[in-house]
Amino acid sequence: MSPRPDGFVPVCTLGQLQEDTPFAAEVEGVSVVLVRTCGAVHALHNACSHADVALSEGEVDDCHIECWLHGSRFDVRTGNPDSLPALRPVPVYAVHLDGDTEDATVSVNTALTQAHDRDPLAAAVPVTQEG
Ligand code: FES
Repeated sequence: MSPRPDGFVPVCTLGQLQEDTPFAAEVEGVSVVLVRTCGAVHALHNACSHADVALSEGEVDDCHIECWLHGSRFDVRTGNPDSLPALRPVPVYAVHLDGDTEDATVSVNTALTQAHDRDPLAAAVPVTQEG
């Protein structure tokens, strides 16, 4: 889909995202994994920071997505790894919901990142822009 004037690209509806089930998507040429968990929808770069493995093939539990290859767990709210062997975070992208019903459109802006300490229960809000 085409980006909106604010740079967010519609990806799917909220109803298409099952709780704790990764959803892979291509957004403006960027591989993204959407995760509906812990009261919000999160968008992360769909590649483990340890090796180029799709995080969308991992499992979601307790606000984390686990890389299936070596088991590093990434906090979906921050992208930070909580366990080895991954040492670097994965990018977390801004998500916009145009409502709170299952028909709400979920949009992602891969040019915007999210604060690492934001309220995980709040709708994702872009706060910084990457160069
Ligand atoms: S490739 Fe993901 S932890 Fe090694």
